[in-house]
Amino acid sequence: MLVVLKENSFEVGREAARIVASSLRANPKSVLGLATGSTPLGMYEELIALHKSTGLDFSHATSFNLDEYLGLAPDNPQSFHYFMHEHLFRHVNVKPENIHIPDGTITGNYDTYCCSYEQAIRDAGGIDLQILGIGRNGHIGFNEPTSSLGSRTRLKVLTKETIDDNRKSFAPGEKVPECAITMGIGTILEAKRVLLLASGSSKATSIAQAIEGPVTASVTASALQHHPDVTFIVDQQAGAQLRHHDYYARVLRLTAELTPDRL
Ligand code: GLP
Repeated sequence: MLVVLKENSFEVGREAARIVASSLRANPKSVLGLATGSTPLGMYEELIALHKSTGLDFSHATSFNLDEYLGLAPDNPQSFHYFMHEHLFRHVNVKPENIHIPDGTITGNYDTYCCSYEQAIRDAGGIDLQILGIGRNGHIGFNEPTSSLGSRTRLKVLTKETIDDNRKSFAPGEKVPECAITMGIGTILEAKRVLLLASGSSKATSIAQAIEGPVTASVTASALQHHPDVTFIVDQQAGAQLRHHDYYARVLRLTAELTPDRL
């Protein structure tokens, strides 16, 4: 695992965008796994800026989002569909037919729908680069604590803690969804490369547990310890409880010297 410590959330976004852009330049047909939340916003802003200033091309790329709230239609401003169109898709030249986001409006036949989402990922050749944020309780996507580490895309009941965190984006009194459709841990682990971004002190405990704690379904991000190519990009606050800062810095320095392609 590579652990990249950055000064602040702006630098986290810039570094993540640099990696996404170099993946797109090396392979214009890249299949990107995308995340929502406040953490990747800086990355999306930077990607839009690169598209406008350098012509970074999304026209051959395909995307699969991690998750969507159950019960929210794409035009609902709180939906992840709306988020992605607002913060990335409408600003770049990605083809609408290449965008995939779980459908939050399905009712019943969840397994059939979720299997078709998994099949679409396979049909696209698998995810080349998966972007992740992390929940305060260590979740990735909406894989809440005690999710199976082998889980696939499925309907997931959200914890009270996550519902409370999500409430911030909803108007007072508005009903906050209790369930979501999310890629599973097994789905995420099949991506060829994974980038997990984190900023702010509220993520410090879950980041330390994910990187330096035991692999456990209680902190689903810790399953990434099984992935052969994962990079954590965290700011000072999110990295505050990590114990091996000096080692991570030396690994980065020597990786840049010996195997720069890994960065
Ligand atoms: C939700 C999303 C996650 C995201 C998390 C953290 O739970 N399903 O993908 O990582 O929120 O969000 P934020 O970046 O706003 O802290």
